[in-house]
Amino acid sequence: MQLPVALRRAVDREVDSCNTAQLRAAALRLSQSYREANAASALISDVDRAAYLAVRLPATCAAVTRALQWTRENFSEDIHSLLDLGSGPGTALWAAAEQLPALDSCTALERDARFAALGQRLAQQAEHPALRNTKWITADLSAGLPQGQWDLVLCSYALNELSAAQRGKLVAEAWSHAAKLLVVIEPGTKTGFANLSAARQQLLAASAHIVAPCPHTQACPMQQNADWCHFAARVERTSDHRRLKDAALGHEDEKFSFIAFARQPLAVEPHARIVRHPQIASGYTQISLCTPEGTLVRTTVTRSQKDDWRRLKRLSWGDRW
Ligand SMILES: C[S@@+](CC[C@H](N)C(=O)[O-])C[C@H]1O[C@@H](n2cnc3c(N)ncnc32)[C@H](O)[C@@H]1O
Repeated sequence: MQLPVALRRAVDREVDSCNTAQLRAAALRLSQSYREANAASALISDVDRAAYLAVRLPATCAAVTRALQWTRENFSEDIHSLLDLGSGPGTALWAAAEQLPALDSCTALERDARFAALGQRLAQQAEHPALRNTKWITADLSAGLPQGQWDLVLCSYALNELSAAQRGKLVAEAWSHAAKLLVVIEPGTKTGFANLSAARQQLLAASAHIVAPCPHTQACPMQQNADWCHFAARVERTSDHRRLKDAALGHEDEKFSFIAFARQPLAVEPHARIVRHPQIASGYTQISLCTPEGTLVRTTVTRSQKDDWRRLKRLSWGDRW
């Protein structure tokens, strides 16, 4: 995935105004803090926030984009309004504006006033009027959400910055403000997945319907195997991104987990989902599927199964089967 052009230009403008040595040091600190699962500790100064734009925003934008694409395959109702929780620089707003053609009103809630101001500056450069007119609220998620209902409530890479008690409260509140959908995206780690599993259990008990990725509401078979469900979004690296990360490859694969809940039952039949990279061999491909029956199965598609073989060529990890 490539960033929307207007976002890329807006990010470049912010990043180019920083001292390169300071930016490099901040990018290193940020990567280190992500390895230690302590992202908040690395977002203190303006140069830290600029480093976030250069090295993390493209990845989280790609993850939100993929999560929304898979959500839209199973949920086609128009989404007019969006509440983004823990917006940072408004990454999820940009992904949503690309994926949701009917979007006409955005609200962003972020604790860090300087991150919100940065998000506002970026959004001013968007072509999409809903993005330019985003209502920014500087507030703490644990202090309760603003009054109102939004078609979609999104929480991207923010749940993991809260305590367990705060997460449970936020999930309940986010759900009560979601008129149609709640989508939560977390890093594709055991911890990120555990946060989503807890939200899944909590909201199934509150009669939510799962849109994606799970094709069922049974106990998660991955969790039963002490494994974790996650996906990968490929993001093209900009030259700044490559330089700051000392990276040789022109792309990176962002690992993420997500879950989308709907208020109404789905209008489509559930399909199995490919939950690992298909293993391609000569004349056959093995795929791991999570099925509507709530089981994990491994199946082999051979070249002689012509229709399936052709179908599989267009699919990858995370797609419906
Ligand atoms: C890793 S960033 C993710 C930003 C953005 N959602 C994205 O996907 O790129 C997490 C954001 O959540 C915000 N955050 C964390 N705890 C918060 C809280 N209690 N209230 C409001 N915002 C919070 C942080 O300030 C930070 O901007």
